Amino acid sequence: MKKTGKIVLWVIAIFAAIQLIPIDRANPPVDPEKDFIQVMNTPPKISGLLKRACYDCHSFETEYPRYAYVAPVSWSVKHHINEGREHANFSIWENYNQDLKKNMLEKAAQNIDSRKMPIPGYIVYHPEANLSEAERQLLINYFKELLESETY
Ligand code: HEC
Repeated sequence: MKKTGKIVLWVIAIFAAIQLIPIDRANPPVDPEKDFIQVMNTPPKISGLLKRACYDCHSFETEYPRYAYVAPVSWSVKHHINEGREHANFSIWENYNQDLKKNMLEKAAQNIDSRKMPIPGYIVYHPEANLSEAERQLLINYFKELLESETY
């Protein structure tokens, strides 16, 4: 067999083999008494935006897109989710102390404003998360109101 043919076969074999590496996509259960949206009783407009733009990476209510089932893309997706949940997980909001909550609200407002969040690469595949300027402002104002009234 020609050398390039062999290389192609190897690439296909490796691609097939990495599909067998298991990835845990099971969402842990959500306790409504700890979930940000439930606890804060967020207005439907705000909860809608959070679910559309943030909850895939910052909660236990992740909805995995189809491309998340193909390695190595699935590894990157899972990595973002793990990291996102580590930095801020709305599903376990009530587990955080006041300092952490304050910090997350401040960072959330900043990151939405600077367009770091939702992650630009994610928006490409999730047009519903491509928040308009007005929608971004709604979220920022909501977080700022909580910070100012210290109701978090
Ligand atoms: C595609 C996954 C994804 C989406 C969607 C997403 N984030 Fe993130 N988020 C991450 C990751 C990964 C990190 C940690 C790395 C970083 O800061 O870039 C993070 C970090 C954060 C942090 C902590 C930042 C810090 O400096 O400590 C906050 C707060 C945050 N995100 C809020 C949000 C909000 C609010 C939304 C929705 C408007 C959102 N994120 C959407 C993945 C995501």
